[in-house]
Amino acid sequence: MKKVVISLGGSILIPKLDEHRIKEYVPVLKKIAQKHHLYVVVGGGGMARSYIDILRDVGSDEGTADEVGILITRLNATLLIAALGEAAYPSVATSHAEALMFGESGKIVVMGGITPGQTTDAVSAVLAERVGASVFINTTSVDGIYTEDPKKNPKAKRFDTLTPEKLLEIVGGTALGAGSNNVLDIVAARIVERSGIPLVVLDGSVPGNLSDAILLGKFRGTVVSDEKKKPLPV
Ligand code: UTP
Repeated sequence: MKKVVISLGGSILIPKLDEHRIKEYVPVLKKIAQKHHLYVVVGGGGMARSYIDILRDVGSDEGTADEVGILITRLNATLLIAALGEAAYPSVATSHAEALMFGESGKIVVMGGITPGQTTDAVSAVLAERVGASVFINTTSVDGIYTEDPKKNPKAKRFDTLTPEKLLEIVGGTALGAGSNNVLDIVAARIVERSGIPLVVLDGSVPGNLSDAILLGKFRGTVVSDEKKKPLPV
C-alpha cells in the first residue's frame, strides 16, 4: 500500500453553512483507502474566514486569528471523522507525530491546522514528507494552477505541469495574513520543492474527481514535479 496525502479545502467540504459535500466524500475516501494509506488534512473554508473577520473587527492580532482558524479546521476535521465512522481513526491528529502514530492503525487519518502563520496546505505538504507519501493532492475550487486567479481574470491560463521552482515564483508574492486565500501557501510551496514529492492540484468540487485521479489517473489539473514520470494513478 502506498501513502497518499490529500489537502481537502474547507470550502470544498463545506461550501456554505447550510451546504456540504461530506456525505459525497465519504464513499470516495473509503474507496481510495481500500488501496492506499490515506491521510486527509481538512481546511477551515468560509467559516474560518468569517471568524477571522470578526476577530479583526474586535481588534485581535493575526496570531490569535490564526489560532481560531486552526480551531475551525479541527472542527471540520471532526465532522469528517464522524461521517467516516469506523473507516477513520477516531481523533483529529493535532501534530504530525500524532498523525504518524494514528496512521499505524491502518485507518484514514484526519487532521486540521497545527501552528499559526501558515495554512493547512503547509500542514499537508509536511505530512506528505513525514509519512513518505507517493503523492500530495491539493483540492481547490479551480482545476489547477493558473497564470493568475481565473475567477478574477477569465483569460488566465492553466498549467498542465510546473516545476517546483516555477510554483515558488508564482506563489512568492502572495500574502500570508490569517484567512488569506491563495492557490497554495508559500510554506507549502517550499516544502514541495525540498521534498521532491509530486503535488497534484485539482478541482475538488466534484468528489469523484479525487478517486478518478488517484485510482485511474484520470484528471484535469496541474502536476508540480521535477520528474517526467506521471504521479497518477498511484
Ligand atoms: P485553511 O488551511 O483552511 O486556509 O486555514 P485556506 O487557504 O483559507 O483554505 P480553504 O479555503 O479551506 O481551502 C484557515 C486559516 O486557519 C489558520 C490561517 O489563518 C488560515 O488562513 N491556520 C490554518 C493556521 O494559522 N495554521 C494552520 O496550520 C492552519
